[in-house]
Amino acid sequence: MQAKTTQNASLDQFFSSSAARLDRWRELNAVAQEWAADARSGNLARGRAQVEAALKEVRPLEDYFAYPGHQLLKVLDERISQDDAMGVGRLVRRVSGALLSGSYRYDTDEWDTADDSSATTPDRLSAALEGGESKRPYFETLFVTPAPIASLPHLAHEIRRLRRIEDEMVYEPVMVGSFEDAVLSIIFNGKIESVVIYDGVPIPSRHNVPLLRDYLTTYHKVDASSIAPREIGIALARLIKRIRPELDIYLLTDRQVEKVAGDPAASSIRRVFYQVEELMEVHLSVIEGVADRFSTPHFDNLKRYAAKPIGTFHALPIARGKSIIKSNWIRDMGEFYGLNLFLAESSATTGGLDSLLEPTGTIKVAQEKFARAVGADHVYFVTNGTSTSNKMVYQAVTKPGDIVIADRNCHKSHHYGMVLSGAQPVYVEAYPMTEYSMYGAVPLHNVKKALLDLKAGGKLDRLVMLTLTNCTFDGQVYNTRRVMEECLAIKPDLVFLWDEAWFGFARWSPFLRPRTAMGGAAALEEWRADPASLKAYEAQVAKLGEDLDPKDPRVLEQHLIPDPRKMRIRVYMTTSVHKSMSCLRQGSIVSVKDEDYSKHISGFHEAVFIHASTSPNAQIIASLDVARRQMELEGYELVMRATEIALSIRREIAAHPIISKYFSVLGNDIMVPAEYRKSGFKDFLTPGSNWLDAGKAVHNDEFFLDPTRLTLVCGTAGYDGTSFKGLLASKYDIQLNKTSRNSVLLQSNINNTRSDVAHLIQVLLEISQEVEARLAEGGDAGRQAFAKKVKSLMEDVPNLPNFSRFHDGYRESPKGGTVEGDMRGAFFAAYSEDDCEYVPLASPEIDERLKKGPEMVSANFVIPYPPGFPIMVPGQVITADTIEFMRKLDVKEIHGYEAARGLKLIKIKAIGKARKG
Ligand SMILES: Cc1ncc(COP(=O)(O)O)c(C=O)c1O
Repeated sequence: MQAKTTQNASLDQFFSSSAARLDRWRELNAVAQEWAADARSGNLARGRAQVEAALKEVRPLEDYFAYPGHQLLKVLDERISQDDAMGVGRLVRRVSGALLSGSYRYDTDEWDTADDSSATTPDRLSAALEGGESKRPYFETLFVTPAPIASLPHLAHEIRRLRRIEDEMVYEPVMVGSFEDAVLSIIFNGKIESVVIYDGVPIPSRHNVPLLRDYLTTYHKVDASSIAPREIGIALARLIKRIRPELDIYLLTDRQVEKVAGDPAASSIRRVFYQVEELMEVHLSVIEGVADRFSTPHFDNLKRYAAKPIGTFHALPIARGKSIIKSNWIRDMGEFYGLNLFLAESSATTGGLDSLLEPTGTIKVAQEKFARAVGADHVYFVTNGTSTSNKMVYQAVTKPGDIVIADRNCHKSHHYGMVLSGAQPVYVEAYPMTEYSMYGAVPLHNVKKALLDLKAGGKLDRLVMLTLTNCTFDGQVYNTRRVMEECLAIKPDLVFLWDEAWFGFARWSPFLRPRTAMGGAAALEEWRADPASLKAYEAQVAKLGEDLDPKDPRVLEQHLIPDPRKMRIRVYMTTSVHKSMSCLRQGSIVSVKDEDYSKHISGFHEAVFIHASTSPNAQIIASLDVARRQMELEGYELVMRATEIALSIRREIAAHPIISKYFSVLGNDIMVPAEYRKSGFKDFLTPGSNWLDAGKAVHNDEFFLDPTRLTLVCGTAGYDGTSFKGLLASKYDIQLNKTSRNSVLLQSNINNTRSDVAHLIQVLLEISQEVEARLAEGGDAGRQAFAKKVKSLMEDVPNLPNFSRFHDGYRESPKGGTVEGDMRGAFFAAYSEDDCEYVPLASPEIDERLKKGPEMVSANFVIPYPPGFPIMVPGQVITADTIEFMRKLDVKEIHGYEAARGLKLIKIKAIGKARKG
């Protein structure tokens, strides 16, 4: 995808590239400095042409940003036309530096049109802003107005004049004159927090934007040219909400405001104003809207609490920090963490502090705000990670004997969740990526097959929930809407638990949002509200009948449509906020969008009581609140940056002549096999690909790779994943995510910078050069040994074992019936040591029993790291491929397996005993 500065690139190619803008300014700065240097030696002509050409590249984008803005650009033009090379050099250096550091947000000097910073720019700041304004948060507000271009600077000036000393924050207006320019502004400019739309704006942009038009029609089904003039304002508001739902939108109209406000289509608009009314109202609303997102009720409360002189006669001696700061021996802890940490600690839930277990105050409001931010109806804060969030959902939604369809490869908290609740799993398999010793995602075909088998077996009423991991650990993202709609066609009230532990940030990417749990749920809601949905369903009934026949092969193969009158939208999403947002470790949320939530409210209360500590960590709760604030205000920009960083790592590794000999990052085309990519989109780096192609893939394909998850193949450099991870950590201080036999997983997030990319590339180059040097020194023998090692890592890979089956003793209908199993029964059977036996993995007894029996039944979960999924679960019959996999596995950490004693098995006679009992 496009990110580098390219000559003559059309404006709208830069969808995901705020870095590209800075690059263009840097380039302009470079030529401006050259011109200034030449000017000092008397050569003016050549440099000016270059500066003009570079400025032409910069210019169109600048319409969408407040800084440097009309005035400074005008001064720049004047200086160029006067051949004032030194003046141009000074101004461009200042602007490009201010853009890079962000100093224009608080330093009024950066807006000066004069180089002498003691001069002031009347246009930028009114007197109201002097004195402490630099501390106020800064943002930009987009004004979309049909006013003539020539009058826009004046209008902007009028808006600035509305500022008041009492304003909590300060904004700069960005003025555009059309529907298309408004869309481009909110795409390019992450500093925009609110949009004020004047009714009656025209549609087309002043610029040539073919990709944008294609994007609007194919991706958002908006043919801008056919929108009736009266509808433009509302249509624009609706579109902006789809791209950046966090923005506040205001409409100024001279129509009957009461009518517009009451129109359901206007629900994306925060307030409608009568156009001739006081602009001050608009100004105050803009500030109030952003202040609402800015406010963090629990964090703010905790700060107030910390500032109070409080005497504690309660538990938690570290609260107020006196036992630490005054200590002879542990004072360094206080110095290291700072006093505030202890001042903000409390065991109390009274005196203004809310209780996580039964929130009624600031925690409750913070949870409501988080729900709004992620598009859910309710959010529960969890202070013990998504491991606990998942268990809470099982606890609240399922009961003993219920059936859950689950990805066998899902996080262990799901398996344990079922042990706790007594729900019985029907495991579905992901597609294997054997050559990299990892799994992909679960094809919809497998999920539907499991549902249809349960239907055929008369057990659909016991099926309660489907759980899938989105995105998978390695980055495959589901088409959440498609999965849910097809499953609801078979079981209209199915509950979905989407484990989005890694994917929380996706909410703030317009690309990835539709593929989140809440994005899919919103799309289904929208579809259901459209009368065309019933027609589509009726057409299906005409072909397949009302009651789908599970044996009819068309039911499995065709894209099924649910009955819009019967389907229920019942979605739960769990998110490790700490994994992708600025939250302390273990901060997690359960998000709920369930039309039948009332059935589970008391279940959730119990789940909170069962799983939450009665002493939850106040700092984790506060950081959840703050993480939400950040994402609602700058998540869009940060996520774009994390994506750009991932793309640039991919690009640099693929293009580097030495690194690419030994390392590669797996692209979308490898992580997602062709059969799941009907759009034909291959990869982000495929020549000629642009963000629109990627957008189509996001829209249509069964799976899509989250670009921020990078599987770096290191087996080709002679390293297995574990040793490569160790090398990067010990020698280069680079920490990575998980490993596989021949790869490691890197991840870019909102914390990464371009310097991190540079560091990584430098390290990979150094390692590649070392490999080259070793090969050169080692001669033929060395090369052969290296090739052998690479072959072993890359080709001699064990087959990934599928889930075999539960032992008949743990199945309700073993003979040809459905495959769910009483995993909890097996789990607790293993508590009686007399009923268990151990067989060492290397023992010939295992091979003997595999051939002749008796069957071996696992007593517990066996989870090797990597790959991290249970290759055995309690009650599972152990088969030859599982044993082969374990024997070949060269990892040290296997949870549930004691090498000294061997595999823990449930004695067969004990299974019989348990059933009789
Ligand atoms: C898919 C998935 N779900 C849940 C979890 C557990 O999350 P947490 O570490 O927040 O407890 C993880 C952890 O890695 C995970 O990968």
